[in-house]
Amino acid sequence: MAKNVLHIISSPRGAASITRKLGDAIVAKIKEKYPDSVVKERDLATEVFPHLDELQIGAWFAPADARTPEQARVIKISDEAIREMQEADIYVIGAPFYNFGIPSTLKAYLDHVTRPGITFRYNEQGQPEGFLKNKTAYIAAASSGVYSAGPAQHFDHVSPYLTFILGFLGITDVSYIRAEGLRLPGVRETAFEKGILSISIA
Ligand SMILES: Cc1cc2nc3c(=O)[nH]c(=O)nc-3n(C[C@H](O)[C@H](O)[C@H](O)COP(=O)(O)O)c2cc1C
Repeated sequence: MAKNVLHIISSPRGAASITRKLGDAIVAKIKEKYPDSVVKERDLATEVFPHLDELQIGAWFAPADARTPEQARVIKISDEAIREMQEADIYVIGAPFYNFGIPSTLKAYLDHVTRPGITFRYNEQGQPEGFLKNKTAYIAAASSGVYSAGPAQHFDHVSPYLTFILGFLGITDVSYIRAEGLRLPGVRETAFEKGILSISIA
């Protein structure tokens, strides 16, 4: 079976990036399991999404046929990113820990794809409903510290946020592959290898 895979990269460190290497390894495992898969890369470090501004938000809420030329121009970046997300079956999302959260480039991207009426809505009962259904996400996370267990666990604002916002969009099958403790003596020596060995594709 072939899958459409969207690999979202948020580290600006190119080939040196641990999350990119981990993401590439996850993609390779997906291709082993689903050989005819098509992989698309979205590099958020080279194609930076702007912060949401009045023009972009105004464009979202204007009826399509009433948008100004400027609104019609800027909304394309959001439309295109959403189309890619809709087309993908599997997401591989690189998530370096930056100040205990995700990089702002990834947050800006998520702000562009979290769009009322398009990727989610609140139903008649006021409950949120995500429209990106039957998708799987693998998060390639990297950090100097260890957050999956131990005393720093509650400083992890990466996995609670990503699990929540992806679930809000309908993506409830989310797994984490972590290379953690990259700066901790006694842990760092095997941190990347441990991440690689923990990859398991459903
Ligand atoms: C600006 C910045 C902030 C960081 N903040 C944290 C942090 O809060 N916690 C942590 O454990 N590591 C932190 N790190 C370390 C990175 O998570 C680690 O170097 C990781 O490998 C970066 O991902 P990359 O290799 O894909 O670029 C930070 C690194 C940078 C550059």
